[in-house]
Amino acid sequence: MAISKTLSDELEKRRKIALDGGGAKKAEDRHAKGRMTARERLGSLFSKGTFQEFGLHAQHNTRYFGMADKSIPTDGVICGTGFVDGRPVAAFSQDFGVVGGSLGEIHAKKICAALDHAVKAGVPVVGFNDSGGARIQEGVGALSGYGQVFYRNVQLSGVVPQISVIAGPCAGGAAYSPALTDFIIMTRKNAQMFICGPEVIRSVTGQVTTMDEIGSAQAHASVSGNIHFIAEDDAHAVQIVHKLLSFLPSNNMMDPPHHIEPDLKIVDDPALDELVPADSKTPFDCRKVIKSLADGGDFLEVMEHFAANIVIGFGRIGGVVVGFVSNQPTVKAGTLDIDASDKAARFVRFCNVYNIPIVTLVDVPGFLPGVNEERRGIIRHGAKMLFAYASATVPKITVIMRKAYGGAYLAMCSEDMGADRVIAWPTAEIAVMGAEGAVSILYRKELAEAEDKVAKAKELADEYRTEFATPYLSAGRLAIHDIIQPRETKSSIALTLRGLMSKRETRPPKKHGNIPL
Ligand code: HXC
Repeated sequence: MAISKTLSDELEKRRKIALDGGGAKKAEDRHAKGRMTARERLGSLFSKGTFQEFGLHAQHNTRYFGMADKSIPTDGVICGTGFVDGRPVAAFSQDFGVVGGSLGEIHAKKICAALDHAVKAGVPVVGFNDSGGARIQEGVGALSGYGQVFYRNVQLSGVVPQISVIAGPCAGGAAYSPALTDFIIMTRKNAQMFICGPEVIRSVTGQVTTMDEIGSAQAHASVSGNIHFIAEDDAHAVQIVHKLLSFLPSNNMMDPPHHIEPDLKIVDDPALDELVPADSKTPFDCRKVIKSLADGGDFLEVMEHFAANIVIGFGRIGGVVVGFVSNQPTVKAGTLDIDASDKAARFVRFCNVYNIPIVTLVDVPGFLPGVNEERRGIIRHGAKMLFAYASATVPKITVIMRKAYGGAYLAMCSEDMGADRVIAWPTAEIAVMGAEGAVSILYRKELAEAEDKVAKAKELADEYRTEFATPYLSAGRLAIHDIIQPRETKSSIALTLRGLMSKRETRPPKKHGNIPL
């Protein structure tokens, strides 16, 4: 018996209403502003023909204030699964064209269903946030919905990768859902994220500010450190999601997508021999080293504009996906400060939880000296790096390019902090503290009596470097495993990584450690 025309027509009619969302006019308005609709965002995320929606026929709860006659197609959020590069991914996309993408009870239930599916199927989840926040008519029903989403974000953390795209407003408490995820990508124009907007700040504190200053992509990428990538527009945001996913496993039980060829053929890069300047105070760009090590120079930098004194990101070495962490000598001389410590520690923990080996490149003169740093808690923040590295059980390889001084060296994953292999270049300087500081303490009397104090200090510092900071001293004490020519770095790391692919390290059972936060 064939389906009756009435039933078939009814389905098509309902489908059309739901698929139209806010209607053609609202879609046109979006396009005029160079933006995609919620459905178009999912269309560009997933490979053609792979999207399976759930909740297309969702209806808002009509018992709420002023809602009885309202039509809210999909309840303002489109949810489902699809494939990216042949791998399944779950997603939701808030539809600003439908009551401002505001979050009501059913809207929240749909997002929760996407998150529940992600954890059940062991697949990453991508969320497009574009919403006026809690649906005011639904009051505490909406508030409760946010609570249910946050709760799931936390349950998913460390189980499946969670990626947020901020593609419109994301205001008030709503910003905490993206904040609980692993990566946030924000579009340069049309997106705002804040807890209290300029108007609230002015009325409560009298401070005058602008949305650009507190809630723009630029502010979050470079000042607050709340986001990881700036996208030029929606299409670029999706490109970044694709690139990010290409380095990540689907869940914490899987390996990341390595591209391992059976034969390891790596040629030396003589340019690396020339990179480090003769004068140890002259900076060099660590990105050049990273790009030389990453297969095809393909390096996805994370948080490029925040705490630029440390560089983090993903690449492959000899086909193996790795997370790079490197001091950046061109910014604040590569010192570790509060922001750099927070940035690197969280990245190390992400890599560890998703089985991504960590390659650490060291040129660190120490922690950044300063009253502000001490008063704002560099001890607590720097401790995060020690904690993150020492708790990480993934393969850890450390390359000492130049300075490796004091506690900051330990914070960059020395052998004592659990590195599986530490290699140094002949330019390495490894010591308990920097030469100038050590000399000023050890030779106070000699310096006071010297006629030319500057020349004497330099002479003693040079002597200290060659006598006490040479990598051969550390190699002699087995604190580093080898000293290599810079040009040999890639082949050395690639070989070590292959040898560590089946690394296993167990720790005493515990609920979780107590990382200094
Ligand atoms: C219900 C909402 C809404 C909301 C927008 N709309 N936000 N409806 N609840 N929160 C509706 C509008 O009424 C309008 O409906 C449509 O969405 C488009 O909104 P516009 O204002 O026309 O758009 P625009 O000019 O682009 O302004 C966007 C906006 C503004 C800046 C986001 O809409 C706004 O300020 N909204 C309210 C933001 C807010 O205060 N949210 C509640 C925060 S409390 P029509 O029918 O006219 O098209 C909160 C608590 C969360 O979120 C706690 C979590 C822990």
